[in-house]
Amino acid sequence: MNILILGSGGREHSLAWAVLQNPKCDRLIVAPGNAGIADIAECATGLDIMNPGAVVTFAEQEAIDFVIIGPEAPLAAGVAERLREAGVLTFGPSMAAAQLEASKHFTKEVCDACNAPTAAYGHFTNAAAARDYVTAQGAPIVIKADGLAAGKGVIIAETIPQAHDAIDDMFGGAFGGAGAEVVIEEFMQGEEASLFVLCDGENILSIGTAQDHKRVGEGDNGPNTGGMGAYSPAPVVTPEIEARAMDEIVRPTIAEMARRGTPFQGILYAGLMIEDGQPRLVEYNVRFGDPEAQVLMMRLGAQALDLMHAAAEGRLDQTGVTWAEDHALCVVMAADGYPGDYAKGSVIGGLDDCPADSFHMVFHAGTAKKDGKITAAGGRVLGVTARGASLREAADRAYGMVDRIDWPQGFCRRDIGWRAL
Ligand code: AMP
Ligand code: GLY
Repeated sequence: MNILILGSGGREHSLAWAVLQNPKCDRLIVAPGNAGIADIAECATGLDIMNPGAVVTFAEQEAIDFVIIGPEAPLAAGVAERLREAGVLTFGPSMAAAQLEASKHFTKEVCDACNAPTAAYGHFTNAAAARDYVTAQGAPIVIKADGLAAGKGVIIAETIPQAHDAIDDMFGGAFGGAGAEVVIEEFMQGEEASLFVLCDGENILSIGTAQDHKRVGEGDNGPNTGGMGAYSPAPVVTPEIEARAMDEIVRPTIAEMARRGTPFQGILYAGLMIEDGQPRLVEYNVRFGDPEAQVLMMRLGAQALDLMHAAAEGRLDQTGVTWAEDHALCVVMAADGYPGDYAKGSVIGGLDDCPADSFHMVFHAGTAKKDGKITAAGGRVLGVTARGASLREAADRAYGMVDRIDWPQGFCRRDIGWRAL
């Protein structure tokens, strides 16, 4: 198979790494890719992955048999269905099905229609009505921009004045078009975890759980980030809770999407809040998480390609996951200053001293190569990932690699996995 992966982050590096272990992969191109991906695959740096026509033309020119779409933006732009219309087998939902991530209000309506447990909410198109709702509900309360806001459109307001400020900011354009509509939700207590479910439009197959660390600081303090580290499996998701989440949330959602004539095919990432054994939906994403993909790919290895291929071909009912009793953990190394302003261009040393095998991998998220040296080119820069028989072993291996990396302008959290360790 000739395979094209769209995207340029640590998620896409880990997808490429897993795909390449499968002998069914003859040729792999990643567009646009990054400096780490360029070490293992061809990178099509010039392809505009937000342009469906350009992606179709490229896939035809390169005789691509299978496309895997990493990030949400090209999915929301309709790249997946344009590829399928052109006869190119593609992993990822249509624009209509990607609404499960692109519109919070859409997801709430789907949950209402299929009785999936989630936070109570209101949906607003003007600030005055939203402010009145908050005054009536009280705080804490959660204010969300409806559309895609690069993970920044959620404000947890501790007080009513904070909530009113957040509403004014959103309707004032702080999140651009994403904030033209606002969803206001009940604040849910509990522990968060993520469940990753492959869907082929009709059938569903869980491929594992993970927990992310959204806050920049140790002990889960400080501002929110895209994710400072992850581990899999998440012990808070017991088999009973996973079964409830599949039966009460994911399966009804997939059935509702099919009923509407917009079946969901791809990976559904269900963000769950778990309290007293009851999972409730926080949000859906329609793609792998970053850095959750890094730990899932390290655990799945070569079978990840077969699983995504089966989802794209509608064969998930005949497919299963072969699990090892293992654990994986990813430590994100970020540039000093992230998630605020940070500098680019600092040189990262020591990468050649890190092992690269089925238990260890430094995935690149935001790097570039200059004069033969790897340099930082983003906020989140590396995903230092390891696998082991226990979470402790995985953590020790990952931090062992972190300690070999010589990058004075970078930092990481030293406590990834603390809830489970
Ligand atoms: P989201 O972008 O929807 O994942 O929201 C970002 C983060 O905000 C989530 O990972 C949760 O930690 C938190 N969050 C979102 N909605 C709620 C809610 N209704 N109750 C409590 N926390 C929430
Ligand atoms: N790590 C969170 C996300 O990918 O959305």
